[in-house]
Amino acid sequence: MPIRELVLYHEPILRKKTEPVSLFDRGLHNLLDDMLETMIAERGIGLAAPQIGVAQKIAIIDLGASDVPAPVFSGDEKPKGPEGTLELINPEIISNSGNVKSEEGCLSIPGYRDTIQRKLAVTVSAQDRYGTPFKVSATDLYAFAFQHEIDHLNGILFTDHLSRLKRVLFQRWLEKQDWRK
Ligand code: CO
Repeated sequence: MPIRELVLYHEPILRKKTEPVSLFDRGLHNLLDDMLETMIAERGIGLAAPQIGVAQKIAIIDLGASDVPAPVFSGDEKPKGPEGTLELINPEIISNSGNVKSEEGCLSIPGYRDTIQRKLAVTVSAQDRYGTPFKVSATDLYAFAFQHEIDHLNGILFTDHLSRLKRVLFQRWLEKQDWRK
């Protein structure tokens, strides 16, 4: 399970529309395992496939043992995968409600955190690593993580949600970062 190199802000793949996954095979499982290893190494709580250079609808979330409301799965459709990590294949937000502020960062924008507007609650449909569909509802941190990672699969970064003034400040900050080179 090798750690993959992270794709950073300026790289075009982060802006590409991703392709749906149709093969739930060993290749997918290896990719998911690499994503988890990479996310742990980078101390992230979520990672989307484009962030390791793969333009496919795949994301993982692991908030660790944090004291936040757990996501709720509908029916018996709990996804199978590594303990504690939520793997989302072909995820889509099917409903949402409420508007709240969320302070976020992103492994592809190292060193930057800021507060943006998110939905308080979302329901997501997705498939697990074996292709089994499931639905999950979440509020607060899990809901923000779902929105952040699913945004990645649509070529959107959290800084796209900044207000106009904050975006100007962010651009100035960005120009000073060595990792852009
Ligand atoms: Co991110």
